Amino acid sequence: MPLNRRTLLGVTLSLALTLTPPITAFAASPAPAKGEHGMVVTEQHLATEVGVDVLKKGGNAVDAAVAVGYALAVVYPEAGNIGGGGFMTIRLKDGRTTFLDFRERAPLAATRTMYLDKDGKPIKGASLDGYLAVGVPGSVAGFEMAREKYGTLSRQDLMAPAIAYAKGGFVLNQGDAASFANSAARLGKDPAAAAIFLKEDRKPYGIGETLVQPDLAASLSAISQKGPDAFYKGAIADAIVKASGVKGGILAKGDFEQYAVRELKPVTCSYRGYEIISSPPPSSGGVIICEILNVLEGYPLSYLGSGSAETVHVMVEAMRHAYVDRNSALGDPDFIDNPVSKLLDKGYAKEIREKIDPFRAGISKELMPKGFGESKETTHYSIIDRDGNAVAVTYTLNGPYGAGVVADGTGILLNNEMDDFTQKPGVPNLYGLVQGEANAIQPKKTPLSSMSPTILTRDGKPFMVIGSPGGSRIITITLEAIVNVIDFGMDIQEAIDAPRIHHQWLPDTVYVEPFGLSPDTEKLLAGMGYHLDLSDETWGRAAGILVGGKSLAEIEKGGGARYNGAMDSRAAAGEALGY
Ligand code: DON
Repeated sequence: MPLNRRTLLGVTLSLALTLTPPITAFAASPAPAKGEHGMVVTEQHLATEVGVDVLKKGGNAVDAAVAVGYALAVVYPEAGNIGGGGFMTIRLKDGRTTFLDFRERAPLAATRTMYLDKDGKPIKGASLDGYLAVGVPGSVAGFEMAREKYGTLSRQDLMAPAIAYAKGGFVLNQGDAASFANSAARLGKDPAAAAIFLKEDRKPYGIGETLVQPDLAASLSAISQKGPDAFYKGAIADAIVKASGVKGGILAKGDFEQYAVRELKPVTCSYRGYEIISSPPPSSGGVIICEILNVLEGYPLSYLGSGSAETVHVMVEAMRHAYVDRNSALGDPDFIDNPVSKLLDKGYAKEIREKIDPFRAGISKELMPKGFGESKETTHYSIIDRDGNAVAVTYTLNGPYGAGVVADGTGILLNNEMDDFTQKPGVPNLYGLVQGEANAIQPKKTPLSSMSPTILTRDGKPFMVIGSPGGSRIITITLEAIVNVIDFGMDIQEAIDAPRIHHQWLPDTVYVEPFGLSPDTEKLLAGMGYHLDLSDETWGRAAGILVGGKSLAEIEKGGGARYNGAMDSRAAAGEALGY
């Protein structure tokens, strides 16, 4: 194991390697869900059941992922979608891996300055609200490619539960109602969206009430019968293009006709003997998770302890350096030459470690790349089947309910993914990300993402499936779940529930979830030069599966359930269910 020979506050690394990971006081969570034949973890309980039913009927993990994707579009419209896009990481039982990129593309009429006024200043809301914010959706094409290439069941079988929930409606529980509670103002601005998601009194649906979506049922039925052409070449595309034209958008029929899913090789790296399989560009997720893990591999995290000032220090510094690379160097691989092999190189990680002062916070401004700046809603689900096929999907409308618009008659909420592009180098986006030229807007280009559907293996066998929503924080959420399991010995539920920290280079601030750090740790970090933002909000909703036991300790004892599922306690409507 390549370890940094420098010691941190006098800790000797040889000692560190002999100790078992300490469990921290704040990692207390309910037991993970158990299953012997399969496990589905999603952000909405009905969608989870849809996935388990597909597995029980003999479908594989990809079949379940497709059925869940369509079901979430109905029962979790905040983020589940057919009007957005996303990524699917697949590891098959024979060890083959692949990655489907069905993220949105910029319309053909998009220009690099389309969100700037005549003085070159960003127009408030232009990349977030209404039709100008919409990227060409990819979910339908993505699910169909996944099903055709890697699934076993018919499209009709996999779409039937979603159609039934759209047509017959579903009753909202407390978690579902919470997801709608803050949406009234946004959805009320678009008459077609308001007609679906708001009641006659213009209030959102509450606990015990039934949401029926007949237009969405009709759109889904057309796709089920005729395939993706019903979406990309038929009446659905026509309706969206028409509404876009009338309401200030630039979507054209050609955008839909030319949409194509990309099948890419996942990014892979190793961390303390585990293999990480994750998202390649146009996501920054896999590359940046690997870059951070490569840096952390040189520190004895399990000895330094979860939540200690030293651990937070090295994690934040690794994040700071990696997010500089994310925000300045990465973009759509069809347009940009991404320096992936450099960023994944263990030697590069060593160079970064050498720049980290063991006693002081780094300074983000000093890492500004030469020339830089010159020129919340997503959902993740994790599935594994009886044969060990593992699937991780993160897909999104970007902000909650996307652009907040529905083309008349379609029932389909459209994304505001265009905001993920650099509007203007140096100007922060929805997630405060300050990005550069590599992610500038161009026709047919895909905006850089942070979505990180990730699968880990050990000794050639599936070990963990993990991912989360959370905008730019997806990367650190996923990373921390991995480190919590591998370095800190938490079980999968504890690893996901544990309070999080986040740093993304700019702003030069360490974000800390409530109760994340003790007051004396905060003092130590402030003394090292850190600016802490002690948030009163939580972020992310990770969905994870661990294979062979709920934690490393249980796996080593050999006494655990085969599949252990955990839905983030932050996700009020979610569920992990095994069978
Ligand atoms: O692709 C991305 O990185 C973002 N559009 C993800 C948005 C997201 O996670 C919002 N959810 N909280």
